[in-house]
Amino acid sequence: MDSTQYVRSTFIKEDGLLRSITNGLIEHDMPQISVSPEIGKTIYMLTKIAGVRNILEIGTLGGYSTIWLARALPEDGKIITLELKKKHSDFAMQNIREAGLSDKVEFLIGDAADTLKQVEASGDKFDLFFIDADKIQYRHYLDVALGMANPGALILFDNMLLQGRVYDFGDTNPAATALRDLNNFIANHPKLESMLIAIGDGLGVCRFKG
Ligand code: SAH
Ligand code: DHB
Ligand code: MG
Repeated sequence: MDSTQYVRSTFIKEDGLLRSITNGLIEHDMPQISVSPEIGKTIYMLTKIAGVRNILEIGTLGGYSTIWLARALPEDGKIITLELKKKHSDFAMQNIREAGLSDKVEFLIGDAADTLKQVEASGDKFDLFFIDADKIQYRHYLDVALGMANPGALILFDNMLLQGRVYDFGDTNPAATALRDLNNFIANHPKLESMLIAIGDGLGVCRFKG
């Protein structure tokens, strides 16, 4: 047993629905790139601890992370989740319905480049952002999030270690370069306090000072 297995078996109770998403993704030939259970439980805890009421998620896939987040929201809490692919969104909607969370979750389908403009136009502000879509656009998603963030808001990013490629400094792959640059950017941003938690594929955690 290693520390991840120990933490998982002791602290992370995935129910049948969360577990079924993994199988459903395989069955429907969709990518199996949901966040790890450790990241799921951590974003759930952060949502509760920070008293988050409004969440914007970029990258729904099967709704695995959406369910962790929505389950941490208060009665009147809301999450908007953005997804490029209708097939992913349809599967996620089915899972959210089964979770009994439909009244907390709003789905927007299409390129986040466009759907984010829609969200911006609504004038909504958010307490937490979870960014887990195309890595090259993370910096743009951060810029947009900063414009819609309440003071004290959390901005979270999945995959900020990119399987170790961010600290393999000879790796000039565009995604590795983009996330390496983004780590440096958030670590030194005057309006952010930031941390990279080395669980799953790396969870970037930023707090917006306001
Ligand atoms: N957060 C999910 C996993 C997301 S995987 C979970 O943990 O359960 C990344 C998702 O981002 C994929 O479903 C992919 O289709 C979507 N995506 C990629 N580029 C996108 C874009 N430009 N706009 C919106 N969604 C995008
Ligand atoms: C990929 C994307 C993700 O968001 C992730 O968690 C893992 C892999 C990918 O595009 O390969
Ligand atoms: Mg990811």
